[in-house]
Amino acid sequence: MSSPAPLGHQNVDRKIVERPDTVRPRFGGLRHADRLGSGLLVAPSILSADFARLGDECAAALAAGGDLLHVDVMDGHFVPNLSMGPAICAAVHKALPDACLDVHLMVTDPAAYIEPFARAGAAHITFHIEVAPDPRAIIDAIHTRGLSAGLAINPDTPAEAILPFLGDVELALVMSVYPGFSGQKFIDRVLPKTRALRDAAPVGVRVQMDGGVAPDSAPACRAHGCDLIVAASAIFGRSDYAEAIRALR
Ligand code: DX5
Ligand code: ZN
Repeated sequence: MSSPAPLGHQNVDRKIVERPDTVRPRFGGLRHADRLGSGLLVAPSILSADFARLGDECAAALAAGGDLLHVDVMDGHFVPNLSMGPAICAAVHKALPDACLDVHLMVTDPAAYIEPFARAGAAHITFHIEVAPDPRAIIDAIHTRGLSAGLAINPDTPAEAILPFLGDVELALVMSVYPGFSGQKFIDRVLPKTRALRDAAPVGVRVQMDGGVAPDSAPACRAHGCDLIVAASAIFGRSDYAEAIRALR
């Protein structure tokens, strides 16, 4: 009579059988991870673009050296502003099918928007821990679509809130402003959280800073372990996008 398999083995076998369709991509998802590599990335946030010329603005930001495009989605409930939905994301994807679209969900019900943004061409989706009682279910839904997943924390949320999930995601986002608007001042007291997340995260997990990042705050972000910088006004608010992106690196 053979002895029973150790408990851990049983768990691993069962997990593989139950989730045959779940693929763990790196940041950028199955379509973009290889091209993005592992160095510092700069993500122009289209929230400060000229919406009347959005396709041209996105193309210009990428031609100027932006590595990907950050798409800020606001529902007027989780944050006090409305911004853009899947239709805008789909339009950008149609105009620039090779662009990596990094969707930042600032919405109260993130689970409801995974499928619409996956269909709209998103490569990556980040959602907020403050509105996710069961983050792993949302992470699984993102991964099942071949996208990478991120967890975000607001300025007043401790890093500890997402530490248990760092092994499950490809990105941790630290908000350095209160979410809702571009053009706010960088809150430097979040920097120790960035460092704590970088130190705790497995190799390959991106640490993203979002809010008020400009040439004067970017060096501190990088020094605290951030390897993905988001900037809206510091890029789209300038006349020379290439110079603006160079100044952030
Ligand atoms: C804020 C958004 C940010 C915003 C950044 O709620 O999540 O991505 O676009 O804008 P800047 O870089 O101007 O602070
Ligand atoms: Zn954002």
